[in-house]
Amino acid sequence: QLKEWKGEPIRVGVIGGSGLYKLEKIQPVAEIDMETPWGKPSSPITIAKTQSGVHVAFLARHGRDHSITPSSVPCLANISALKHLGVRAILAFSAVGSLREEIRPKDFVIPNQIIDRTKGIRRASFFGEGEEKGVVAHAMFGDPFDEVLRPLVEKAVRETLEKFNPEVKVHGEKTVVCMEGPQFSTRAESLMYRAWGGDIINMSVLPESKLAREAEISYVLIATATDYDAWRPSSAAVTVAEVIECLKANVAASQEVTVSLLDLIHSHVSNDQESQAFKNIQGSMKFSVMTKSS
Ligand code: ADE
Repeated sequence: QLKEWKGEPIRVGVIGGSGLYKLEKIQPVAEIDMETPWGKPSSPITIAKTQSGVHVAFLARHGRDHSITPSSVPCLANISALKHLGVRAILAFSAVGSLREEIRPKDFVIPNQIIDRTKGIRRASFFGEGEEKGVVAHAMFGDPFDEVLRPLVEKAVRETLEKFNPEVKVHGEKTVVCMEGPQFSTRAESLMYRAWGGDIINMSVLPESKLAREAEISYVLIATATDYDAWRPSSAAVTVAEVIECLKANVAASQEVTVSLLDLIHSHVSNDQESQAFKNIQGSMKFSVMTKSS
């Protein structure tokens, strides 16, 4: 295991959620045990190389043995470690519950909005605390996902899954509710989220996506549905057994999706002059800091 990556900057990062603890179809070339000013990331970072020679950095959000709860994921360390490697775009995978009949377990969802139902116990900003105490910043977050990359990801995921398993549908432009957990929702809460306009629910998209925005990294969520949560009167409320059963199928599909996305996303963020996603986000935090520099 290396402490530092000495190779070229790595432009694409992948964060694996429940079930996705490693990339199986891409050749690993190094393992990095990183330390950041915010501590260690959830897992060592695997550097892997696609067939066309593009490097990617992979990290398992809940640890490789799934020992980190959603509330205690070291998101600042995770985002900071990826930033340190040079990452400009993160593809984040997450298992989600479905709040809509048409989003069936095993389907994929590429959301464009978030409703925050976390409880304020997760540190959600690099600013205002620690080294950054006294620096106040308000990042724009109206569009929480990268609006250049998100439609490209949706299209590529759809094309891949049509070939891999046409039964799996891909849904775009949906709203993900992020709850604190670790318990699942009550039926009343689940119905309330539907009334609010939520389409899917997870415990992990926040503060990860906010911190990526502050770190000027493009971020897109690839959500895989595992259950119907608790709103459906005719079904039992979600159980872990149900989630795990679906995860296996979702992970096989996610491995295919990752292979097809890496070169594509790399080509959209690696050119300093021409990459629109990168140009949009690079330097954006400069306009978000309220504190006067002395
Ligand atoms: N992750 C997977 N299924 C979920 C659910 N129903 N609620 C919250 N997070 C989830």
